[in-house]
Amino acid sequence: MTTPDPVEALRERMAAELPAGLIAHIDRVVHIAGLLARQHGADEELARFMAQAHDVARHLEPAALLQRAERLGLEIDPVDRSEPVLLHGPVGAVDLYERFGVRDERVLHAVHWHTSGHIDYGPEAWAMFIADKIDPTKVERWPALADVRDGAWLSLERAALTYLDLLLVHAVTERWQIHPASVLARNALIARLD
Ligand SMILES: [Fe+2]
Ligand SMILES: [Fe+2]
Repeated sequence: MTTPDPVEALRERMAAELPAGLIAHIDRVVHIAGLLARQHGADEELARFMAQAHDVARHLEPAALLQRAERLGLEIDPVDRSEPVLLHGPVGAVDLYERFGVRDERVLHAVHWHTSGHIDYGPEAWAMFIADKIDPTKVERWPALADVRDGAWLSLERAALTYLDLLLVHAVTERWQIHPASVLARNALIARLD
């Protein structure tokens, strides 16, 4: 008997709980993350697994996310309180550990920070991060993301910085709050890349 593909095994368990639209998004992210990892000589299977795992808690309602984060004693920023959807990364990482048996710290860290990115990300986590942002349906809704998509073949970290720049400009225009984790990730990328 062949060992089941870990990505396929996790997908099967998630498909039983998550809405079809979210599963379809995750499928696209898995595919793109694999291509980006290959392009940059990174571990394709790790990138694909991170991508499969990243939105495990994305379907939870805002109130439920906040309640779970509080119960788990997770750090909750005031921005998380006004936009609890931002907690689906941290809550998802705990879910993966507690309910899906994921023990790889690289995966748990990547999922925890996948909304903002993190300076400790390796190439596989950046491949997952970028793949999530350049899902074609997202690029269709926000065409500026095409710059992130096109840049990602040259440099994952530069593409991540492009994304965080876009987010910041958009947040200023729309008067959105900016999560401190996004600011920290952007600052660190600038310091590293410039
Ligand atoms: Fe997400
Ligand atoms: Fe996602």
